[in-house]
Amino acid sequence: MPKYDAGKLIDAAKNARKYSQAKYSNFRVGAALMDKDGAIFSGCNIESSSYSLTICAERVALTKALSEGVTKFTAIAITALDGKFCSPCGACRQLLYDYAPEIDVILTDGKEQKILKLSELLPYAFEESQLSQK
Ligand code: THU
Repeated sequence: MPKYDAGKLIDAAKNARKYSQAKYSNFRVGAALMDKDGAIFSGCNIESSSYSLTICAERVALTKALSEGVTKFTAIAITALDGKFCSPCGACRQLLYDYAPEIDVILTDGKEQKILKLSELLPYAFEESQLSQK
């Protein structure tokens, strides 16, 4: 049995993209995160007139799950423009790594998919153990 259903996760990311609030960039992103039991938490990018307050789709999905007490994840799917792959930004890589360092990252251009390990996307990551004085 695979750890997750990539097709279902991609469909959820595409559906979430419909709700993207991207009136400044017009770049619409959808993401969907699967927990260890197969539950899906979706997110879209939410932009602000104060641009730097914008939240990416991946962080919306992650914070939705964490705020409901869900902490074990298997994969996240990300979709933006049809025909192009959208890779998570550095800030999202870091936050995902803090809570789900082992997950697979599924990128889709609408037709094809690429599956990468988050650890490949963020090598030599800053992480919790480095905060320790010991
Ligand atoms: N964005 C995401 O939601 N996820 C990514 O992985 C890359 C960028 C959003 C942020 C902003 O609303 C728009 O895409 C353009 O950067």
